[in-house]
Amino acid sequence: MDNRPIGFFDSGLGGLTCIPYLMKLLPDEKIIYFGDTARTPYGSKATTTIRSFSMEIADFLVKSNVKMIVIACNTVSATCLQDLQHRFPMIPILGVIDPAAKKVADQCSEDNRIGIIGTKVTINSQAYKTCIHGYNDRLAIYETACPAFVPLIEEGIIENDIMDLTIKYYMDGFIRDNELDTVILGCTHYPLIKKNIERIYPNLRIINPSHIVGEDIMRILKERNMLSDGTDFENTFFASDLSENFINMIDYIFKDESEDMKVKFLNFDLERGEGMI
Ligand code: DGL
Repeated sequence: MDNRPIGFFDSGLGGLTCIPYLMKLLPDEKIIYFGDTARTPYGSKATTTIRSFSMEIADFLVKSNVKMIVIACNTVSATCLQDLQHRFPMIPILGVIDPAAKKVADQCSEDNRIGIIGTKVTINSQAYKTCIHGYNDRLAIYETACPAFVPLIEEGIIENDIMDLTIKYYMDGFIRDNELDTVILGCTHYPLIKKNIERIYPNLRIINPSHIVGEDIMRILKERNMLSDGTDFENTFFASDLSENFINMIDYIFKDESEDMKVKFLNFDLERGEGMI
C-alpha cells in the first residue's frame, strides 16, 4: 500500500484528459498534475528543449514525493521516456504511447487501415508506428501531424465552426486518401475534440490513449503493491501560467465528476522551481 499521489504532466491542459477515467478506475488514488502552460505547445519544439523542460518537471514531481510519474503527453513520451526513466530509476515512469500501441495491436487486424494524428514531433518520431509494429508488423499505419489543434484547444476554441473547419482541413484528405477506418488520438489534447471528430466522421473508430493509460497505471501499482487505500490529500493542479483558461478547462473536463472533489490550484514559478499560491 502507498498513499502518496501519482504525478502527471503535460505541456498544458491536454494531460487532464487522462484524469477523470483514472479517478473512476481507482477512486482512492490522488494526483499532482503539472501543466506547462507558460511554455506550451511542445509539439513543434526541438527535442533538446522538450527533454530539458521535461527533466525539470519530473524533478519537481519527484521532490513533491509522488509514487509514480505518468507522462500525460505523447510528444514527451515520444521524445524522452527512456531518458526520464534512466534519470529517475527510483519510481515507475509510464508514457502514453506503449499502452495505446498494445491496445491497437490487440483490437485491430490487417484488414484495418489505422491513422495516427498527433503533433509534429510525435509524428516525425514515428514512435506510434514503431511501437505498434513491435506488437504486429502487418498492421497498416498512416500518420499525419495536426499542429493547429493544440493552440486552439488551449484557447478553449472547441465547440465551434473554427475547430470543425480545422479538423476537416487536416483530416478530410488524410482519411479519404488512405481509406482509414480507425484513428488514434495521438495527442492528449485531442480527446477534447473527440466529439467534433465523431460528428464529422460518424463511421470512424476512434481510439483514445488518454483512457487506455489508466489500465496500465492500475496494473503497475497492483504489481508493486502500491495502490492507495484512501487519503485526505487534495488533488493539486500546478500550472507554470495559472491562467483563467486553465482553471476553466479543469471545470469543463471535470464537469461530470463528483461535486465534492477536492482541488487545489497553484502557480508554479519556473525560476524558483516551486509552487506558489
Ligand atoms: N498533449 C501534448 C501531446 O500529447 C501536446 C503537445 C503540445 O504541447 O504540442 O503531445
